[in-house]
Parts: sequence; C-alpha cells; structure tokens
Amino acid sequence: MLAVVGGSGWESFPGLTNVKQLSLDTPYGPLAEPLSLADWNGQSLIFLSRHGAQHSLAPHQINYRANVWALREVGVQQVLAINAVGGIGREMGPGTLVVPSQLIDYTWGRAHSFWSDQVLHIDFGNPFEGALRSQILSAAKSLGVALLDGGTYGCTQGPRLETAAEIRRLAQDGCELVGMTAMPEAALARELALDYASLCIVVNWAAGISDERITMEAIYQVLEASRAPVQGILGQLLRA
Ligand code: HPA
Repeated sequence: MLAVVGGSGWESFPGLTNVKQLSLDTPYGPLAEPLSLADWNGQSLIFLSRHGAQHSLAPHQINYRANVWALREVGVQQVLAINAVGGIGREMGPGTLVVPSQLIDYTWGRAHSFWSDQVLHIDFGNPFEGALRSQILSAAKSLGVALLDGGTYGCTQGPRLETAAEIRRLAQDGCELVGMTAMPEAALARELALDYASLCIVVNWAAGISDERITMEAIYQVLEASRAPVQGILGQLLRA
C-alpha cells in the first residue's frame, strides 16, 4: 500500500474517489487530520496532507511521529513525500522536479525518534534508497517527464525562509535543495522500516541565488504548473 504525504500545494489530492476518512490516535498523539483512504484512477491510495487540509501547521508544528506511525498502523509500506523546496544548485530552477538522494538536517527541537526507552541507531547513510525511489524515476522516464535523479536536500527549521548567508552556507555544505519538512519525516519512516522517497518540486530560487524576491504568488504558480507532471508520475507509478 502506497501513501502520498502532500506538502505545500498538495493540501488535497484532486480526483480521489470512494474516500474513507480515518481519524487515528497514536502513542504520539492524534493525527491533526484524518487519513484519506481512497481510490484514484482505479488504484488504492492513502493520502495525508502534512500541513493539514487548510495548511494550518507550520513545518515545526507538524506531528511527524503521529503521521508516520498512523501510516504504518494502516498497513502502508511505501511513502511518497511531496516536498516544495527552494533551488540552490545551478540545475535546480523553479519548476524542476527532483528525487533527492541525500539530506542534511538543520532542524532543531523536533521530536525525531519514536523510541525513548531504548537506544536505536538506525542506518541512515542513504536516506532515500528504497525501491520506491527507483519506481518514481522509472515512472517519469517512461512518461518522458523531466525528473532529476539525485541532490542533497538541506532541511531548515523555518517557518521563515533563509537568509542569503544561510543559503551560502548550505551551498558550501553541498546542499542543492532547501526545504523544511523532509526531517524528521524521512528518519521516522526509516525507524519503522518504511520505503520512503521524496519527490521535490522546486518552487523558487533559494534566498540570494537570484535577485528576485521570493513571493507566495510565484511559488503557488509553480506549484500549479507542476501539478500535471506530478500527477502523471503518480498515475504511472500506481499502474506499474
Ligand atoms: N527554503 C526553505 N523551504 C522552502 C523554500 C525555500 O526557499 N521554498 C519552498 N520551501
């Protein structure tokens, strides 16, 4: 069973049918909103909006543990995370779709493990390495949709965007993308042995990379334009 965790611009998943809303309580608290167990183009799918249906939760306010736990609880094995990100690398301009291969975690104060009564050091050397990642790439390839394979995602705390100096530091660290939500989600998924991959939509040049101010209007325009290719990839992935 595949779950899609939608980020900014993906607060809802258009076209779902037979939607069953499932509210769940977890040892880490209740879900902020129910899971949608649904059909899409004849395939079963579970959908969760990370920021809530009304985009009311900032990245640091999301209960990542409840979300990931609930997905595992209903039998999800694969989690496709959709993440809106800023582009740092030369090839990562607005509108680019990327499946990142690495990440650096700059967040703080987020509950980043399920376990408090035992010491568990999960292997996280390759944070995005499961079958799902390859399936996303194959789906895009078979459709002829441009999708970059690889890149390092720097996860910042937000909710504010970064300073230009912070982005220079991220670039020096080797980050090509910057977002606020891949962590601790990806690590929590690994703790539960879920096959987790991220599909990043670059929605703006990161601070200081271009002279233009970053506006929400421009970001939402890119998100709208990317909806069709992202849906195409998801459709192909579920059919395969
Ligand atoms: N920085 C951090 N997160 C983001 C950005 C950004 O520039 N754009 C979209 N999410």
